[in-house]
Amino acid sequence: MCGIVGYVGPRPAQPIIIDGLRRMEYRGYDSAGITVVADGQLAARKKAGKLANLEAELLAHPLPESHQGIGHTRWATHGGPTDANAHPHLSADDRVAVVHNGIIENFATLRAELAADGIEFRSQTDSEAVAHLLRRQLDVTPGLADALRAVCRRLEGAFTLVAVDAAQPGLIVAARRSSPLVVGVGEGEMFLASDVASFIEHTRHAIELGQDQVVAITAGSVDVTDFAGRPAEVRPYEIEWDLSSAEKGGFDWFMRKEIFEQPHAAADTLLGRIDPDGRLCLDEMRIDRALLRSVDKIVIIACGTAYHAGLIAKYAIEHWTRVPCEVELASEFRYRDPIVTRTTLVVAISQSGETMDTLMAIRHAREQHAAVVAICNTNGATIPRESDAVIYTHAGPEIGVASTKCFTAQIIACYLLGLYLAQERGTKFGDEILSLVEELAGIPDKMQAVLDSLEPMKALALDLVANKDFIFLGRHVGYPIALEGALKLKEISYLHAEGFAAGELKHGPIALVEPGVPVFVVVPPQGRDSLHDKVISNIQEVRARGAKTIVLAEEGDPEAGAFATKLIELPVVPTLFQPMLAIIPLQYFACEVATLKGYDVDQPRNLAKSVTVE
Ligand code: G6P
Repeated sequence: MCGIVGYVGPRPAQPIIIDGLRRMEYRGYDSAGITVVADGQLAARKKAGKLANLEAELLAHPLPESHQGIGHTRWATHGGPTDANAHPHLSADDRVAVVHNGIIENFATLRAELAADGIEFRSQTDSEAVAHLLRRQLDVTPGLADALRAVCRRLEGAFTLVAVDAAQPGLIVAARRSSPLVVGVGEGEMFLASDVASFIEHTRHAIELGQDQVVAITAGSVDVTDFAGRPAEVRPYEIEWDLSSAEKGGFDWFMRKEIFEQPHAAADTLLGRIDPDGRLCLDEMRIDRALLRSVDKIVIIACGTAYHAGLIAKYAIEHWTRVPCEVELASEFRYRDPIVTRTTLVVAISQSGETMDTLMAIRHAREQHAAVVAICNTNGATIPRESDAVIYTHAGPEIGVASTKCFTAQIIACYLLGLYLAQERGTKFGDEILSLVEELAGIPDKMQAVLDSLEPMKALALDLVANKDFIFLGRHVGYPIALEGALKLKEISYLHAEGFAAGELKHGPIALVEPGVPVFVVVPPQGRDSLHDKVISNIQEVRARGAKTIVLAEEGDPEAGAFATKLIELPVVPTLFQPMLAIIPLQYFACEVATLKGYDVDQPRNLAKSVTVE
């Protein structure tokens, strides 16, 4: 949700900033802009629409050569996606430029105050107020960092701010509250960005900024303080991701590449978490083991795809630990006065680790003294930092806005947590846990087998691309897969797709079934209670009403094919493990349909990868 980039050093700033913005575009693409400092003056270009529009503008109206600048790619909140609302925002005298990620909640008061001072706003954004406040503050406290600290103390809401002052060349300052910001430390050059992907091409040394901190960078120095100006402890770290993980590597879309990376992401998420005796060793679970044994309720909170991973995890965690487990949309959680106590374990699932709804939910949970475990893909992000423990999904950077490899890695991480709890609480015998762990360890190979047989999905996509409505059905863990399969299609193909619990069909949704409507059905493995047979009956019910049935079932299931317009076979696994395989053809199908429709798969309209506003 808005990407921010800054550079100061000996090299020309513009190409570094534009390349950095390209890697940040997944965060928002309503507009893009750049400001450089050259010869004691600011020069800015900004354009509505994707980065390509800004690049065209830069060709038509080149910027002067400069070695210092800031850039921004926007996901609109206050004010539509116009040139005027694009960042950077400049002070009235064009001396100060600011880029912002987040929402300034008291902006109306600040705007009124500035307007009363005679300042005319050039945009409808909340962010512009910061540029004017900062400029005004420079008359009181001439140092740019001092001025930014003073301004930050007046701001309410969530923000990452980066600013330059034409009168203080060679210096960039930035502030962070609840939105991400990292510093890249190069050889005689410095970078700032919302995410390390922006600068991994140039350096692997990074410093993570903490909550309510201000950083001032020059080509050769980094100075971090809190908002009061006290020196702050910095947390340097080495970036493990390599550049290839942030490149498309021959694929047409990041999303398609990420679908194919799932075996790798799953294997990396399992790596180092199972000792040679098959015991789980989650070293990162810093929560007291006695507390884990006393937990009497688990609450999973998440948004979007991560929420669907949580829905799946509930089945496994309850089954293995016998502890009641609720799954809640993070945006709903704190507003309904949830019952959370010292013996509640809250599990927050978030790829980015910065989703504001999830962050606010865990803050609420911790206020009620619950222990919080984050399941996160982004090292050092706000959610893991504010949690008691974190299990990282080592899926590598996920750039496609529609989440794929992180979804399956999140299920794996949740399963590791569930089995670990079962191990600590003694609700499963060691050999049972061992056999489940072995099953989990076999998933990456089985994912690969699914990926190797996706070719027929292309013809299926071609066949169904003209349809307007899609239905997805599943029971048990197949139900969240139906929801996630439908979500993928909605997100990137803009088609009406609904996921239902197959048993609910007869209570309403079956009214939607008419001849020709495609119905995807996830069939559970054979022989588990009567679940399998119930779903087979559901297929017949929609088939009888003329639906095209696309059936996902395990290999060798004799009944699944009988009523299938199209049968997609999956490797044989126990029911709880099927979601990590069944979702792959559905992800691929959505990607194919969106590609056929000519849509931008990685940057679907209106969406952003990290949603840092509530
Ligand atoms: C956005 C993204 C989704 C993602 C959700 C939660 O809506 O578009 O793909 O599932 O946020 O994100 P998180 O980073 O918390 O997993």
